[in-house]
Amino acid sequence: MSICQLLDFKSIDDERGQLVALEAMKNIPFQIKRIYYMTGLDSQYPRGFHAHKQLKQVAVCLKGRCRFVLDNGSKREEVWLDTPAQGLFIGEMVWREMHDFSNDCVLIVLASEYYAEDDYIRDYQQFNKEVNNG
Ligand code: TYD
Repeated sequence: MSICQLLDFKSIDDERGQLVALEAMKNIPFQIKRIYYMTGLDSQYPRGFHAHKQLKQVAVCLKGRCRFVLDNGSKREEVWLDTPAQGLFIGEMVWREMHDFSNDCVLIVLASEYYAEDDYIRDYQQFNKEVNNG
């Protein structure tokens, strides 16, 4: 099964613009406890480089584009996000990196839990060990 699970959102488009609605337990497969967003991104500075023990997230590129790398400890996949009509679901214990941000890139992330630093695994070797040895 693919690590990269792209969610296609219904987009209501007309001459006034584009509207996309995200709803917990409907097109977002968890209760949303937190939303954060990233602006002023720079392709010189990739982000992420961590996994989460419990957290589930959906990332949406509201403007511009960027390349996500996802790694489950056995394989690595990449996907470009470049439309507000798609979200990338990232489950627990998936290493993620974000690269190649366009200058206008705006990323929003919906998260299943409040921020907790102790849910992060920021060391790839540790992630690999935990995910492969249970
Ligand atoms: P981090 O998740 O490491 O960002 P990235 O993986 O994109 O580089 O978060 C960067 C900093 O922001 C880190 O010090 C933790 C803090 N932070 C919060 O305080 N609350 C949050 O909801 C998030 C996502 C990060």
